[in-house]
Amino acid sequence: MPEQIIKSKIYYVGARDWDRPLFDELIPLPDGTTYNAYLIKGSQKIALLDAVDPTKEAELLDNLRRIGVERIDYVISHHAEQDHSGAIPTILEHFPMAQVVTNQKCANLLKEHLLIPDEKFKIISDGEKLLLGDKTMRFIFTPWVHWPETMSTYLEEDKVLFSCDFFGSHLATSNLFVDDESRVYRSAKRYYAEIMMPFRTNARQNLEKVRNLPIDLIAPSHGPIYPKPDLIMNAYTDWTSDTVKDEVLIPYVSMHGSTAKMVEHLTSALIERDLKVQPFNLSRTDIGELAMALVDAATVVLGSPTVILGPHPAAVTAAYLLNLLRPKTKYLGVIGSYGWGGKMLDQLSAILSGMKAEILSPVIIKGYPKPDDFKALDMLADTIAEKHRNLKQLERDKS
Ligand code: FEO
Repeated sequence: MPEQIIKSKIYYVGARDWDRPLFDELIPLPDGTTYNAYLIKGSQKIALLDAVDPTKEAELLDNLRRIGVERIDYVISHHAEQDHSGAIPTILEHFPMAQVVTNQKCANLLKEHLLIPDEKFKIISDGEKLLLGDKTMRFIFTPWVHWPETMSTYLEEDKVLFSCDFFGSHLATSNLFVDDESRVYRSAKRYYAEIMMPFRTNARQNLEKVRNLPIDLIAPSHGPIYPKPDLIMNAYTDWTSDTVKDEVLIPYVSMHGSTAKMVEHLTSALIERDLKVQPFNLSRTDIGELAMALVDAATVVLGSPTVILGPHPAAVTAAYLLNLLRPKTKYLGVIGSYGWGGKMLDQLSAILSGMKAEILSPVIIKGYPKPDDFKALDMLADTIAEKHRNLKQLERDKS
């Protein structure tokens, strides 16, 4: 692969992982991912910004050899998660004079997870600068995107923000830079939904911390580099805001068609009331798609049948994810069906107890839906439509 120059004396030395199917053995990666590492050659010192996943360390070493790197003075570790730090011990073997530059929290994690010895670290504080000669790195702590130790580096002379996971996307492409904005937007939204959404408030605070920097490039640790930082800055402004969209999501699972019939009826009733609706069949849905839809939707209605005495396991997983991802959902409902009894609603409600949304009256029916059940679903659709109208009015009043 030819030298991959980002700017003068700044090189891409990371690796693409085209085929990785899952991240954290949980998150589907339909477009693979990248582990971005960057090398900055200052007039006096050389810094490597992050490493790569341990599975790709040979590629990182090859990339360093290709650009003739014989010495590394600093390894900047923005984040201790192994997809960026896992190859640091190997780097230290090859470049034993290198110091690992990071904050105290990250150093503690690196010591625990990668057994890097104490004497290898140079600890920096928020806002501290480190000179490479003609290039100046300024460290900006951006905690909780998505671990407590995460930080960014701003390269002052070149106006490059190395943001690590923050602003990233799980998207492997041959182009180092964004060339298809809508594709990158979608990947970045999916990434935000799966990784950053539980830390929406922190992400918003960190966004404010970097918003006014003069930035030519945002170079994250996953996915393409942004030559137009506004693309991702504006997206994060929208996603981390308190504003929701006029949308209803219905994640559901059905065994014998009763819950599916309820979802079908509710979906039609909501469409008749001019609402945008997205049903998700949980037995087929990629959870990344569901997470992405949760970024904006005002209302979520979870549908489940009753298995023995409780909810279907697919509905349990969806409820667990909803609770975990903490979307800005305003209204939350549960619908479903049972055969002879059970505690499906109680158990789902317990799992969803961390959600801050207003709880809508549930519609739980016996067997296949009958005329009165359809009426109850119509009433639920009326309630949702009214709530959305009020929400839109509130937004209008604010603007
Ligand atoms: Fe890409 Fe949180 O590691």
